[in-house]
Amino acid sequence: MDQPLNDQHGMSLEELQALDQKHHLHPFTAASALRQAPPFLIDNADGCYVMGQGIRLLDMMAGLGCVNIGYGREELSTTAQKAMQTLSYYHSFSAVSNPTAAALAGRIAALAPDGMNKVFFANSGSEANETILKVIAFYWRQLGKPEKRIIITRDYAYHGSTIATTALNGNAAMQEPFGIESGPDILRAAAPFWYRDGGDLTPEEHGLAAAKSIEEKILEAGADNVAAVFVEPVQATMGAIIPPDVYFPEVERICRKYNVLLVADEVVTGLGRTGHWFAQETFGFKADIMTLAKGLSSGYCPISAAVLHDDIATVIEDGETVFQHGFTTSAHPVMAAVALRNLDVIAEERLVERIHDDIGPYFSQKLQELSASPIVGEVRTCGLIAGIELVQDKATRTQYPIELALCEHVSQAALVRGVIVRPTGNALVLCPPFIASRAEIDLTVDVLQQALEDVHSALVAG
Ligand SMILES: Cc1ncc(COP(=O)(O)O)c(C=O)c1O
Repeated sequence: MDQPLNDQHGMSLEELQALDQKHHLHPFTAASALRQAPPFLIDNADGCYVMGQGIRLLDMMAGLGCVNIGYGREELSTTAQKAMQTLSYYHSFSAVSNPTAAALAGRIAALAPDGMNKVFFANSGSEANETILKVIAFYWRQLGKPEKRIIITRDYAYHGSTIATTALNGNAAMQEPFGIESGPDILRAAAPFWYRDGGDLTPEEHGLAAAKSIEEKILEAGADNVAAVFVEPVQATMGAIIPPDVYFPEVERICRKYNVLLVADEVVTGLGRTGHWFAQETFGFKADIMTLAKGLSSGYCPISAAVLHDDIATVIEDGETVFQHGFTTSAHPVMAAVALRNLDVIAEERLVERIHDDIGPYFSQKLQELSASPIVGEVRTCGLIAGIELVQDKATRTQYPIELALCEHVSQAALVRGVIVRPTGNALVLCPPFIASRAEIDLTVDVLQQALEDVHSALVAG
């Protein structure tokens, strides 16, 4: 664990960096950045900290919002080792299963909101969402309504990186380079992003207007043609957009009124992050289908789940037509064992309750101190997710030009002081491990204050 990098593979740090630069195509990475500087190699991690090249960093992003129970937990590594020795692999096609997958499906059903009892396993959030797109198409066809094909998503959405999920995303920069368009079967409604888009409305008025824009899209397309509305309860990737309380009950009402399925993409929010096991509980709504990924194994291994309400599962399973869908590693016994143990740890250590009653409120209160910065317009939090919106003019909520890359500068300034946060457009996102302490939150706020001050001084100096 503490072995220096160059002992791990019989190579020096520089040799490994050169191999990475030459042979590794990185996800979501500007190639120019890798040409300018070698990749930073993280080689071990523990608790809330990652280490690499002799540097220790407080990871307030929990990787990519996934390492919820913290790094390096022995419970999970011993579970993985035992599971791998016992049953290293078997598939789940053709009516076969394995004990850990069965137990994990049962555990998810027991935790999930009422009636969500059927679980399909995949490997990533994108695959779980892609699975849902097929579930939805299959469901409406089984019901003799193949014309119900249109999916409604929202501005700023992020549902994944496969072709179909990219088409759902509300970010043209992820679509255009591939010639992917949303097309006539995907319509985009407004997001409840009051700070950027709310104008003179109150957050509640804007939330209701954003919900109404979903209704308008349904009416525009004709309810008979609309299959589902896809929502992330908190739009984490695009700046931690947190809806007002009035929003989701209204979205649910609209979906029910027009017989449109409601899908909650709980890839980030599911399994505790918002202070409840599911964000549907935090925001007071019930979806027909939800997807889970990141927190399912706390990032220890790739596993995701699509969870169906009984009303959907019955239709999928009752007909003669086979649901022709699956992955070689669906319900992988080792991944399932790790996920199960991860859920045990969350329950045993009462981490969801901790977010709800203790560390979540502290995180929220402490981060508000950043609002005093002249360039912070809004600090929004929900459980252990935060978005810090940078702004040029607080009164008018005018943004800085995105080309200034202010968030990148702030996050770099925080990084050199030892704290990882994530820049996204004009917002900084924090998604810390559930085990983050008050002292770690205090340190983060101190570091961000200094980082914001650096960037503000540079702006003032011109
Ligand atoms: C809300 C949401 N859905 C889906 C995904 C895609 O998950 P994955 O990267 O595991 O494919 C992400 C990833 O960040 C996400 O934030």
